[in-house]
Amino acid sequence: MTVHIGAKPGDIAETVLLPGDPYRAKWAAETFLEDVKLVNEVRGMLGFTGMWKGNRVTIHGSGMGMPSLSIYVNELIKDYDAKTLIRIGSCGGMQDKVAVRDVILATATTTLTTPSRGIFKELQFAPTCDWTLLHNAFHAAEAKGVPTHVGGIYSADVFYDERPDLNEQMTRHGILGVEMEAAELYTLAARYNRRALAVLTVSDHLLTGEALPSEDRERSFGDMVEIALEAAFA
Ligand code: ADE
Repeated sequence: MTVHIGAKPGDIAETVLLPGDPYRAKWAAETFLEDVKLVNEVRGMLGFTGMWKGNRVTIHGSGMGMPSLSIYVNELIKDYDAKTLIRIGSCGGMQDKVAVRDVILATATTTLTTPSRGIFKELQFAPTCDWTLLHNAFHAAEAKGVPTHVGGIYSADVFYDERPDLNEQMTRHGILGVEMEAAELYTLAARYNRRALAVLTVSDHLLTGEALPSEDRERSFGDMVEIALEAAFA
C-alpha cells in the first residue's frame, strides 16, 4: 500500500490504463476486462485489475490535472513497478482538420509547467511518447476506422483559461488539442524508463465551440480503451 493507492503488492498489472475519471475506470474494467477485481478505492480514486485476451491489465483513475496524475503515476511506477502506462482521456480540438469524436495520439506535449518543472531549471524538456505504443495504437485505430491524428498536444494547467492568447499560439503552431495530464505522464515515463502514450478523443472544439453530447462520449471512450489495449499488447 502507498499513501494514495490501497492495492496490495502484485495487485497492479505491468500495463496500466489511466482515465482521468475513476468512474470511467470502473466502466472500462466492467466492459472490457474479465475476472475484474477492485484494487484501489482510496479517496474514491478507483482502480481495477482484470484480464483482456489473456493479458493482465489495470485500469486506474488519474484524476484531473498534472499534480493529481503525478501522484498516481509516481506510486504506480515506484511502488508497483508499472511498465506501460497509457492515458485514455479527452481533449479540446485546436485545428480545423480535427473534428469532435476524432482520436488524437500525442507524440509530444507543450506546457507552461509541469510538477517536474523544478528539476529542469532553464532546460525546456520535450516530453514524448513511446514509439512502439504509438505505432501500435495508430494501426489499431486505423483498423477500427476511427479518424485519427498524430502530433503535438498542449498539456495546460487550467481548464478555465484567462489567457486565450496561449491557445491561439498553440493553434498557430500546429498543436492538435489541449488536455491537462499527458506532459507529466511522458516526463515520468522518461525518468523511470517506462513506456507511455496518451490516446485522446476530441470532446470539444476550441475553434468551433462544438461539444460532444454526453451519450456519444461513452462510445468514443470505448474506442479509446480498445485502441489502448491493442497498442499495449500488439
Ligand atoms: N479536456 C477536454 N477538453 C478540454 C479543454 N477544452 N481544455 C482542457 N482540457 C480539456
